[in-house]
Amino acid sequence: KAEPPLKIMISGAPASGKGTQCELITQKYGLVHISAGDLLRAEIASGSENGKLAKEFMEKGQLVPDDIVVMMVKDRLSQTDSEQNGWLLDGYPRSSSQATALKGFGFQPDLFILLEVPEDILIERVVGRRLDPVTGKIYHLKYSPPETEEIAARLTQRFDDTEDKAKLRLKTHNQNVSDVLSMYDDITIKIKGNRSKEEVFSQIDTALSQMLQQRNTSPSSL
Ligand code: AP5
Repeated sequence: KAEPPLKIMISGAPASGKGTQCELITQKYGLVHISAGDLLRAEIASGSENGKLAKEFMEKGQLVPDDIVVMMVKDRLSQTDSEQNGWLLDGYPRSSSQATALKGFGFQPDLFILLEVPEDILIERVVGRRLDPVTGKIYHLKYSPPETEEIAARLTQRFDDTEDKAKLRLKTHNQNVSDVLSMYDDITIKIKGNRSKEEVFSQIDTALSQMLQQRNTSPSSL
């Protein structure tokens, strides 16, 4: 019988490389990438009341209230593509209440990936990050520079990518991370994120292939 699609959560401090790894994971495994931060930025861009409110919290590096975030993520997870192809949830849950809410809706991950990167490196990554508004690709001026002059000329920077704002985001992350981790203890893998993006991906890829192989050989899948 066909295996159910993979369901993965990825977590880590600001600029630990979640978005970068999600690009590589979806390329290989075909999962639907759902980023809470991207959903919120789309809400801001739409000019909605929720977007305006969300921006106030994001400016301060604080968590956007659950009544905005929870349904937004739940709705995206419930769409047909996520249900059929599996999902890769990035930046959610960030609190035990968010985790509990998702569980209540019946969404349970197979794997929880935690990217670990020392704090001094995170700030350098935030400040050098640039985004291509045309392709959505993530760049870094030093570590992942744009391929052409044309791309370089159109790169943009996120409104919360200053050193001060990144420090606030980091503080919020540190306040909440252990609550979330304790809820996924038994399915968590810790990945050393302070390596090249290819090396980080290779650790994740190994864990995912092992998991898929175990599924295929376990008696429950016969
Ligand atoms: P969000 O957009 O999720 O931001 P974040 O968690 O701070 O994470 P980032 O997107 O900054 O980093 P990343 O880990 O994806 O790193 P990236 O791959 O880009 O959230 C923003 C805000 O929205 C939050 O502060 C909060 O207010 C709100 N929010 C979001 N989710 C919420 C929720 N669930 N509840 C409530 N509020 C929520 O990489 C960073 C840089 O490093 C790039 O330039 C990249 O090229 C470079 N890089 C990546 N990997 C490597 C490597 N291996 N070596 C060298 N450079 C690398």
